[in-house]
Amino acid sequence: MKINFVNFGQTPIDEDEKQALIPNINTLEELNIWEHENILEARKWALNSRVLNRYDIFDADFLFKLHNKMFNKVWKWAGKLRTSGKNIGCDVYQIRSELRTLSDDAKYWLEHNIYSVEEIALVFHHRLVKIHLFANGNGRHARLVSDCIIKKLEPNKKIDWQGRDMMSSDELRKSYILALRSADSSNYSELFKLFLG
Ligand SMILES: Nc1ncnc2c1ncn2[C@@H]1O[C@H](COP(=O)(O)OP(=O)(O)OP(=O)(O)O)[C@@H](O)[C@H]1O
Ligand SMILES: [Mg+2]
Repeated sequence: MKINFVNFGQTPIDEDEKQALIPNINTLEELNIWEHENILEARKWALNSRVLNRYDIFDADFLFKLHNKMFNKVWKWAGKLRTSGKNIGCDVYQIRSELRTLSDDAKYWLEHNIYSVEEIALVFHHRLVKIHLFANGNGRHARLVSDCIIKKLEPNKKIDWQGRDMMSSDELRKSYILALRSADSSNYSELFKLFLG
């Protein structure tokens, strides 16, 4: 069966990238299950305080490692920077410097109280998906990164994902993508309203 990877707000993956599947997967349903299991394990790893304390969560090393943990049983490119252009994101050669700028910005926001920790988690989230580090899985990765930021820096708060993984094409998914598009023009109010209650 042909796998259709396209969903509202999702980056289509190209033929080369599809060759990089590790398990023998024939349907989108099978792919979803494999990815889901892999991500659950990564979530358990990442939200452990020993791990959060060991890493600088705004830095490239942690961000690559986390993506690797989330997709290493499914995709050969887990944790590796994308090598082709996408409909979202900067040019491939700019990814590393954009990421360095983002990491520095996050540390500055934190140090100078520019945003609350929950707002940092969402602004960082948006900036990360906008750079689009990886061939795929950027949305799921950035949502888990937001959870890691909160868990490490303000553990009594949380991003209210409304109990959803934001993967299905429903109203919440639509509002999420529209809020990210609004954030593309530096308007974060929709994103804050949606997930900070
Ligand atoms: N206009 C936009 N500006 C910034 N980020 C966007 C925009 N549109 C979509 N995104 C982000 O890109 C993600 C899709 O990228 P990708 O397909 O790599 O992630 P994914 O984890 O596979 O998919 P999913 O979105 O279903 O979680 C969306 O989840 C969203 O976070
Ligand atoms: Mg995708």
